[in-house]
Amino acid sequence: MSAGELLGQIADVGRDTRRGGYSRHAFDAPERELRTWFVERAQRLGLDVETDRNGNLWAWWGAPGPDAVVTGSHLDSVPGGGAFDGPLGVSSALDAVESLQDKGFRPAKPVAVVVFAEEEGGRFGVPCLGSRLLTGSIDADRALALRDPDGVTFAEAAAATGLDAGRVGADPERLGLIGRFVELHVEQGRGLIDLGSPVAVGSSVIAHGRWRFSFTGQGNHAGATRIADRADPMLPAAGTVLAVRRLARGREDARATVGRLVPTPGGTNVIASTVDLWLDARVPGAETPELVEEITVAAREAAGSEGCELAVTRESYSGDVVFDEPLRRALGEWLGGPPELPTGAGHDAAILAGFVPSGMLYVRNPTGISHAPDEFAEDADVAAGARALTEVLERLAK
Ligand code: GLV
Ligand code: MN
Ligand code: MN
Ligand code: MN
Repeated sequence: MSAGELLGQIADVGRDTRRGGYSRHAFDAPERELRTWFVERAQRLGLDVETDRNGNLWAWWGAPGPDAVVTGSHLDSVPGGGAFDGPLGVSSALDAVESLQDKGFRPAKPVAVVVFAEEEGGRFGVPCLGSRLLTGSIDADRALALRDPDGVTFAEAAAATGLDAGRVGADPERLGLIGRFVELHVEQGRGLIDLGSPVAVGSSVIAHGRWRFSFTGQGNHAGATRIADRADPMLPAAGTVLAVRRLARGREDARATVGRLVPTPGGTNVIASTVDLWLDARVPGAETPELVEEITVAAREAAGSEGCELAVTRESYSGDVVFDEPLRRALGEWLGGPPELPTGAGHDAAILAGFVPSGMLYVRNPTGISHAPDEFAEDADVAAGARALTEVLERLAK
């Protein structure tokens, strides 16, 4: 079944009728349905599927063993996300395996299709949680204690899906099996529109991280409290949002976003007692922490002038990643010289790149929009991406 047909099979899973697009979060009902779908599709290809200790799915073509050629992506989404971010890489991987089987190819190395858990951090807040755990890039105790917006811990959610919370954490044996990792992904900006190409090879991922800013004031009555008597945490939160834009403008190619802001208790006629906002900051090179420090100074000033307190917590940070040079060169050669593309989006491949030679292929997105319902890929480009991945797997696994 082609990648496009596979995407068609899951087009109704996790549709978000309120926000538009899809909401598929780690271990929730839609994501579990997608896992079941993946297992069924992989088994039809004769692959052996297992769930690792961190909730990542592995579908093996050939017995698991060293120097494995691994491809795949994720099936979770951001809230109200697009249809392609994650599932395109998984579908293309299944398509590529089937194409190789159909032409009678016999891999000399083990091949695996992997589905990483909680890539978007849409439920527990830390992106690429499955690949961070696999590689030991996040402490298991910290991961287990992460909470979703309803207060459910990762430990509880993992246990509810049958994982042994006591075994969650670094998995060096499994990591040691990966010889090469290649992730195919829909392009998330205008890169391939501007380059006029259906496919690109990934060159690098810019540093990125998430910080939580918690402002505390005095909850109170919206009508009975004089303006002069207020300590309203919404004021420094608003000031911080403006500072984020102003300070990001001061650094070349910086991206900084407040996409989530939660006032508590959240009533129209209530002055909030706390406001939490989340900053997503990404600057090429080593400047992201400096930008966040500037934003923190501005946020503290804004909090102080309203009589509020501020606590800042770093939830995740990953430095710049440049994908493996020999693998990039090989991908370019095998695919007839497609362009190379840097990205500001984070990926499991960028986490793995710190441990095993890793690379990425991007498929053109004609809208240039991602993490939103308008994310798209034309059928012909999806097919071109799957052909490219097929070629790459054949070359790597022979
Ligand atoms: C994940 O897609 C991210 O880059 O935030
Ligand atoms: Mn994404
Ligand atoms: Mn993705
Ligand atoms: Mn991503």
